[in-house]
Amino acid sequence: MRYFIFAFVLCGTMFLTTTAFTQTPLSVHGQLFDTGKNLINAHGAGLMYYGGKYYLFGEIKKGKTWRVPNQNWEDYRVPAGGISCYSSTDLKHWKYEGVALSPITGDPKSDIDTGKVIERPKVIYNSKTRQFVMWMHVDAKDYSYSQAGVAVSNRPAGPYRYIKSVKPNGQMARDMTLFKDDDGKAYLIYASEQNNTMQVVRLNDDYLSPSKTYSRILVNRHREAPAVFKNGGKYYLITSDCTGWSPNAATYAVADNILGPYKEYGNPCTGPGANTTFEAQSTYVLPVSGKNTYLFMADRWNKTDLEKSDYLWLPLSVHDGKVEITTR
Ligand code: GAL
Repeated sequence: MRYFIFAFVLCGTMFLTTTAFTQTPLSVHGQLFDTGKNLINAHGAGLMYYGGKYYLFGEIKKGKTWRVPNQNWEDYRVPAGGISCYSSTDLKHWKYEGVALSPITGDPKSDIDTGKVIERPKVIYNSKTRQFVMWMHVDAKDYSYSQAGVAVSNRPAGPYRYIKSVKPNGQMARDMTLFKDDDGKAYLIYASEQNNTMQVVRLNDDYLSPSKTYSRILVNRHREAPAVFKNGGKYYLITSDCTGWSPNAATYAVADNILGPYKEYGNPCTGPGANTTFEAQSTYVLPVSGKNTYLFMADRWNKTDLEKSDYLWLPLSVHDGKVEITTR
């Protein structure tokens, strides 16, 4: 495990949107431990900043990894373990808050049965309804179901109550992320159309269902693992190629409007390992400190033993519209 503080020079003006973090962002390459000295089990994670704390939500991967037969790709699985939650005031010390969304055992009809897929949870706060809203990718073990699931809670750490899953406007939804804009409008961004094309849909005001406003982006570019952030009024979208649990090169795209059109740029990673995103796959980007500084969060999947998957957290910077993620 390599886990160290990345010495960071603060920019003069603090940029406070969804975060109040004002000092040393972290660089994590490997395992993460909570304050109880247990391994953090939160994959495909997302972060929410609320009431002075960061809340980390992620997939619980536990149990023996097995491979789904008769698939033409490496469909490795563990039972869907639900969603975990950890809290922190400094992004460094994480308190285990428990299981935020529990799976159901022995009900194959349920979206959140342990035999299903529950991936990439993201949570935002709805200040009108005063509810915390979690969206996630729910699927069958062969990924043929392709739906976006939604759950709610009155408390940031949960427990969350699962409501339903949808195909937004009849469209497939696999790898996804959630973005709450400065005006309070929220969007779901997801791999759709058999992973060929991504889509962005605006959620209705309660954030519990998709509106009819949606767009197709990165058309036929075959991208997934979306992570989005806003800088200088523009929307930045980092994605991976579709190679299952195996890492590949990230790319990023930029738009004036979250619904697009997006102009594609190359790989934001530089230095040794850049062509595999340093052996990881994007999951979230958190605004950290200084108006051009972010924390890039990614998963280092261990496909044949998914429980042993760990993490890559790196500083991400934006200069003159150019994104850079580097280990140096
Ligand atoms: C990845 C995806 C992961 C998971 C995996 C299954 O491409 O980003 O979230 O779904 O495929 O193989």
